[in-house]
Amino acid sequence: MRILVTGGAGFIGSNFLNMFVPRYPEHSFVCFDKLTYAGNPLSLTGIDSAKNFSLEVADIADGDVVNRIFGDFRPDLVVHFAAESHVDRSIHDPGAFVRTNVVGTMQLLNAARALWKDPSSSTARFHHVSTDEVYGSLREEGAFTEDSRYDPSSPYAASKASSDHLVRAFHRTYGLPITITNCSNNYGPRQAPEKLIPLTILNALEGRELPVYGSGGNCRDWLYVDDHCEAIWKVIECGQVGQTYNVGGNEERTNIDVVRALCELVAQQTGRSAADVLGLIRFVEDRPGHDWRYAVDSSKLKRELGWEPTLRFAEGLARTLAWYIANPAWVKAVQAGEHQKWLEKNYDRRLRTANDGRTNS
Ligand code: NAD
Ligand code: DAU
Repeated sequence: MRILVTGGAGFIGSNFLNMFVPRYPEHSFVCFDKLTYAGNPLSLTGIDSAKNFSLEVADIADGDVVNRIFGDFRPDLVVHFAAESHVDRSIHDPGAFVRTNVVGTMQLLNAARALWKDPSSSTARFHHVSTDEVYGSLREEGAFTEDSRYDPSSPYAASKASSDHLVRAFHRTYGLPITITNCSNNYGPRQAPEKLIPLTILNALEGRELPVYGSGGNCRDWLYVDDHCEAIWKVIECGQVGQTYNVGGNEERTNIDVVRALCELVAQQTGRSAADVLGLIRFVEDRPGHDWRYAVDSSKLKRELGWEPTLRFAEGLARTLAWYIANPAWVKAVQAGEHQKWLEKNYDRRLRTANDGRTNS
């Protein structure tokens, strides 16, 4: 297969590529990524020299560039991770989320439709990676199923909901062979330190304050990133075209419990007292429109495709902390914005060509 992975230099996409590029040398993979602040070429170290891997630095919202890449590579499979993904950023700049998550998804769908002229006779597939946030917020009871009503709270969630609707509409209207996964909160290696778990780890290791929004009682369902990647692969291989599958970890935790657990782990790893690390916690102003609780019912994925999460939360947290401690060069580069400098040095000219004279911002 020729597999186009959008957003492959981000958190989940890079873990996906690190798992599957070496596992499937018979498939070729192209990572299609704009390398925004969230995309990091260092996350591809090790696979970047593999014969079955290459990187295209480009913007999914630019239709001409998307068509050029589809024409050159002629993918049989598109795995679409690329997105603006941080809820707090979407509150400050919703437009960027509409551009990438809605317009960008539409450009990819258009290009796939043009390439796969007769989808019924091909083995092509467009897999869209989405989120449980499209379903909105739960109170204390219940869990999202594939039939839950869409009710997004943040501009990020609204833009992902729009992209899901477009993907389904291209299936119903044009017969495009699609599948969708809606997943809960991921954690693990290579996640940018703007999200709760890596932010807490790095601040705790460096003795900085640990911000907890509101009361800390908001609840998320956590899934280790490798388990999410295996779920996506399972859906690509065995999922039914046109179907949506929810993916969750069955590991619900309040935010304050997550932060406290990380403080205890950091204390154990560094020999500091737990009280000292816990003392860094600060309750801060709440996120506007903050969803109270997410919980995901992934019984369809288990029943129909046999997927289940393999890693428990305590073990996953310990592995994640160990990864951040073992990779100071990655951390330092991300904190210093090194990849943006790398991008300017290595890709400036090519980006300008790809973007037809416009500079990449
Ligand atoms: P991320 O922010 O870490 O990575 C996003 C990647 O997309 C980056 O490499 C970035 O450079 C790239 N990108 C952004 N705009 C682009 C553009 N215009 N053109 C090309 N590339 C662009 O995100 P993530 O956490 O890895 O999430 C990946 C996908 O999974 C997203 O679609 C997100 O909605 C979804 N998701 C994430 C989670 C989670 O907990 N992180 C959970 C469920 C679903
Ligand atoms: O549910 C899936 C979603 O999970 C994905 O679609 C998103 O891309 C991903 O970012 C994540 O969204 P959240 O908003 O849940 O993740 P975040 O790590 O930003 O926040 C997790 C919880 O922790 C949330 O309730 C807000 C809170 N929080 C977050 C930060 C960054 C804090 O209390 N303090 C913080 O500093």
